[in-house]
Amino acid sequence: MTLFNMLQKTWHNFLERQLFDLIHGTNTYEVVDKADFLPIVDLKHGKAYYASWTNEVKNSHQVLTHLLKSHFSDYVFIDLGCGKGKACLVWEMQNRRLAQNQLIYGLDYYEPFITIAQKNYVQVFKQSGNFYHADAQHFDYQQLNKPLIIYLFNPFDAYLLDAVLRKIDSTPCICIYNIPMHQDVFDKHEFQRIYSKDGPNQNQKTIIYSNHEL
Ligand SMILES: C[S@@+](CC[C@H](N)C(=O)[O-])C[C@H]1O[C@@H](n2cnc3c(N)ncnc32)[C@H](O)[C@@H]1O
Repeated sequence: MTLFNMLQKTWHNFLERQLFDLIHGTNTYEVVDKADFLPIVDLKHGKAYYASWTNEVKNSHQVLTHLLKSHFSDYVFIDLGCGKGKACLVWEMQNRRLAQNQLIYGLDYYEPFITIAQKNYVQVFKQSGNFYHADAQHFDYQQLNKPLIIYLFNPFDAYLLDAVLRKIDSTPCICIYNIPMHQDVFDKHEFQRIYSKDGPNQNQKTIIYSNHEL
């Protein structure tokens, strides 16, 4: 890596991750390697914790409010592998800015993250959020009884992504896929691409898919 690339990476990490915590008094920035998760879950298919980039979440929110218009708040937003809750926080901030009233959920299979996500949510909004300790492959999505906007910040491998998409096959669903490493799995489940965005850094690559007519 050149010195320029190193400086650019540090600057991006500051702007898109650390600054959020400095402004809001939250705890989302620190990376947690899988080796540091207590061995209480089967970690074979999941990824380590690192927070979404602030502007990437904002951009997806802007795309979907524009595309869905008055139907936007009919959808439940659900971050699968929510970690410390950053994407839910940014999504709700954008909702409040636009006076959108939408249900927001975060799930993670590592319980300590749920405690941190809840603390972060209270810190920002002075009320509890909907964060649940659950494995994305076993969660009952039908119980939400609404169309879904699923947020995926590269949480797991192709095997688990396939298992999750199989579970939600019969539910109208839009998936925001940031760092889209396993696009073939979406093709297999006949999701259509409705938006895609590229950038020099992997955190700036997002594809939005839908399994139904908008
Ligand atoms: C890259 S982090 C994403 C953090 C968060 N979504 C964000 O955007 O800031 C991936 C997260 O997925 C979680 N995860 C991995 N596999 C999971 C599974 N099967 N069910 C629930 N959470 C999972 C990990 O614990 C980790 O917190």
